[in-house]
Amino acid sequence: MSSDLERVKDEILAAGNLPRHVAVIMDGNGRWAQKRGLPRIEGHRAGIKSVRDIVEATGELGVEMLTLYAFSTENWNRPRFEVSVLMKLLLQTINSEINELDEKNVKVTAIGRLHDLPDGTRKALVKAMDRTTENSGLILNLALSYSGRSEIIDAIKKLGQALQKGTFDIDAINEAQFQNFLYTTRFPDPDLLIRTSGELRLSNFMLWQMAYTEIWVTDVLWPDFRRQHLYQALKDYQARERRFGLVFSKDENDTIEQ
Ligand code: FPP
Repeated sequence: MSSDLERVKDEILAAGNLPRHVAVIMDGNGRWAQKRGLPRIEGHRAGIKSVRDIVEATGELGVEMLTLYAFSTENWNRPRFEVSVLMKLLLQTINSEINELDEKNVKVTAIGRLHDLPDGTRKALVKAMDRTTENSGLILNLALSYSGRSEIIDAIKKLGQALQKGTFDIDAINEAQFQNFLYTTRFPDPDLLIRTSGELRLSNFMLWQMAYTEIWVTDVLWPDFRRQHLYQALKDYQARERRFGLVFSKDENDTIEQ
């Protein structure tokens, strides 16, 4: 790493208020490939290098959790060939990276309708999750066949079943309890969302969990995204004031509800 990057990393660490959970919408792979006259899938392939760099950089900084939006439920509607190559790419990447991820104490988890994934990809994922389940470093959470709305629907179904069975009482439903039915039940909400390639949308990503997430968007396409861009996002995040719907009075400790 260049000394300039080392210096920025040290500044981020010294500032202290790192996000616990960073979520990323990795957009722009297709455009990156198109600009080079390459098939779209080459953009996804190049995007793997960015994934590596960002996983390593967040792990080094001590961020607790990184969620990557790798495949949405809407992505199933892409051309069959692109979907099948993406699934193979996922399988190959999990298999080729798992040793290093495990060595680096990374814990792999996933959210989404995982039963929709092709057998090979799902099995490799489950194996990677099982193997790293005791790891205590960065939690690398892959959103696969995921959408925020389908997650909420799945949670409502689980809640409905619990009500029917009588294991849960309707009067006990509140935000904290509802959260327990989501895929992310044991995780903190994202503090920072990074979206590449300039679009100003949530694209059905972690809709419940993003209620107070800080959003940072860059025009950089995902395959060009590297740790220097992540560092910029983190520095900007550290300079923001998060109020969670409260108004801060002059006395920092004295908050008034809005
Ligand atoms: C969006 O770009 C990207 C995706 C739908 C897939 C992202 C997946 C990877 C980078 C592989 C991830 C691998 C692991 C192991 C996490 P796009 O195709 O929508 O780009 P466009 O908007 O320019 O068309």
